[in-house]
Amino acid sequence: MPFDASAHFPTTRLRRLRYDPAVRRLVRETQLSPADMILPLFVRPGQGERREISSMPGHAQLSPDLIANEAEAAASLGLGGVILFGIPPRKDSVGSDSYADEGIIQQGIRAAKAAAPELLCITDVCFCEYTDHGHCGVLDDATGRLDVNNDATLELLAKQAVSHARAGADMIAPSGMMDGMVGAIRRGLDTAGFAHVPIMSYAAKYASAFYGPFRDAAESTPQAGDRRGYQMDAAAAADQAIREVQLDLAEGADIVMVKPALAYLDVISRVRAAFPGVPVAAYNVSGEYSMVKAAAANGWLDERAVALEVLTSIKRAGAGIVLTYWAKDAAKWLA
Ligand code: PBG
Repeated sequence: MPFDASAHFPTTRLRRLRYDPAVRRLVRETQLSPADMILPLFVRPGQGERREISSMPGHAQLSPDLIANEAEAAASLGLGGVILFGIPPRKDSVGSDSYADEGIIQQGIRAAKAAAPELLCITDVCFCEYTDHGHCGVLDDATGRLDVNNDATLELLAKQAVSHARAGADMIAPSGMMDGMVGAIRRGLDTAGFAHVPIMSYAAKYASAFYGPFRDAAESTPQAGDRRGYQMDAAAAADQAIREVQLDLAEGADIVMVKPALAYLDVISRVRAAFPGVPVAAYNVSGEYSMVKAAAANGWLDERAVALEVLTSIKRAGAGIVLTYWAKDAAKWLA
């Protein structure tokens, strides 16, 4: 912005825009709306089963019948949608529950869609919750080091995505950070008759310690090793995120996501600026939620004020869509 020499104190007083609440409201640019927020839900087996997640107060693993109640609540609050994560009864080396017709997430999708047909039901497509080793794909035995076999995983990701779509998922959100995952899923969906099902790609997903509480929730902590071989390095050139997004768009992604949100607002802002017209989502992840919850429980922070400030900042940075554990609370606060 060029410096305007004529706009000087006392002629210019920016406080004039702040003095009256009505003027502050008038000049606000960032608006929070329930329609832009997506609520994450964790599906587990059973009936009437609600297992609280101690590191994420207010969230629980829920059996499909209780997922139905949450879907109804999300719809009546006007949320943009829900995103489902499955916690299967059995894990194995290839995560086969994730693509079984009677798998846990398939049951969750059917329950959510039956209870709230109009509500957007997104599914997280990944393997870490379903594999006994906790990695986001099949392991590669050939290399002699703990590694996910990228190309062998692609085929299974496509299979998983198609299975979710067949169960009724409205949108597929691949989160495994495998190279080529969006293209493989797009081809799989198109071939199976789901050309209309959009993909929201976790395009720029960082290897982050902020996922800690989620891994308790989804029981997906790797048994050995970590995810640094596939998720992005926080210290990598920020433009690497641009390359990730470019590739995902070229492979057919409809919406691109940056994750986490709060420590990566610069990345959100760059992605927003680099791809005009592309919907950008950001995941306000578990650790971002839990740390505010913990501070609020100690009386150190005002949860409502901080949460709304966090969500506003994520939108101001350029995310039109926010996945957040505060989605229901925020909708009530904004009402
Ligand atoms: C992977 C996945 C993760 C999250 C969403 N999808 C965890 C991971 O990559 O380890 C994290 C979300 C959060 O922390 O709220 N399926």
